[in-house]
Amino acid sequence: MIPLFKVAMSGRASAAVAGVLAGGHIGQGAKVEEFEDALRERLGTRFVSTVNSGTSGLQLALKLAARNGGEVLSTPLTFVATNWAILAAGLRIRWVDVDPATLNADLDDMAAKVSARTAAIMVVHWAGYPVDLARVSEIADECERRYGTRPMIIEDCAQAWGATYAGRPLGNHGNVAVYSFQAIKQVTSGDGGLVVCPDEESHRRGRLIRWFGLDRDPDATPRSEQDISEWGLKFHMNDISAAIGLANLDGAGERVERHRSNAAYYDRELKDVQGLERVRPAPGSEPSYWVYPVKVKRRDDFVARLSAAGIAAGHIDARNDRHSCVAEYAEPLPKLDAVHDRIVCLPVGWWLSEQDREHIVNTIRNGW
Ligand SMILES: Cc1ncc(COP(=O)(O)O)c(C=O)c1O
Repeated sequence: MIPLFKVAMSGRASAAVAGVLAGGHIGQGAKVEEFEDALRERLGTRFVSTVNSGTSGLQLALKLAARNGGEVLSTPLTFVATNWAILAAGLRIRWVDVDPATLNADLDDMAAKVSARTAAIMVVHWAGYPVDLARVSEIADECERRYGTRPMIIEDCAQAWGATYAGRPLGNHGNVAVYSFQAIKQVTSGDGGLVVCPDEESHRRGRLIRWFGLDRDPDATPRSEQDISEWGLKFHMNDISAAIGLANLDGAGERVERHRSNAAYYDRELKDVQGLERVRPAPGSEPSYWVYPVKVKRRDDFVARLSAAGIAAGHIDARNDRHSCVAEYAEPLPKLDAVHDRIVCLPVGWWLSEQDREHIVNTIRNGW
């Protein structure tokens, strides 16, 4: 079977972990700092804080956004981690419809739904396709003009390591951005995540929230004498994860390029296939193609046809708004209704050989 996902584990990770274990310090220490230095350099941004998962990172970001409740505009087409983090932060969800062309949030619907209650706008760069961040920023500005406060924009980059917008990696556009280093992401640390802040103040607050509200800096006042003005949680990364992440950061750029080259091949070879539509990247963006989503007629037949040919394809993230735990937030989402059952993701990753991708294209061209 050609898999839809594969763990990208460096041959150097075991030795790196063994080194940490032998060193006797396995909590947050020198390896975490080394990983953060490397991430700072890769992303070209100053204010980075590793955390123990992308989900923790989102909760931390949401705590930064809103101390006193409020509503978060969010897409239902994502992994549930995005939206359950909003609930965990004590905030309410306001669903934004999905643009069938990009499969990301419909920005006209988002503009119509900002209000005095909007504490944050959550944008998800789903499947590694960046959202039009310039337009989202205009929406936040307009909200500030009308209601006096600018909602914080939080970018869920969990599926988008390597993607760029306006020529810069995600995390460089004035917002709080959160990455995931979970097992099957482009860079894995086993489990882990990253919060990128746009300024020193939110970065400082974020680092305190990351560990109970206490300052771990060696030069800080002794812990027993610190006052905690804002409580935090246990979100920090440890040196074991950081060692794995550091080993896997090498080669990540090349892997993303393989994803891009396979996507370009599909763009060329699938463009005239009847009954299949491709996803349109936002203007000014360069996706990283964690998977390659397409919209097809008769999805179940499509998936069965590919499966019979030894190709794993599937709909990775079902709409989040239909779960009974979020029934109170339900509202009509006609564009998502129209596209949801046609979405399917193809394998596009670094593990595909030339023959694999040809086999995938030929199988699709032969019909389903
Ligand atoms: C869009 C999205 N957001 C958030 C997460 C959560 O990341 P983690 O698994 O590191 O907590 C994921 C993980 O799959 C995801 O796909």
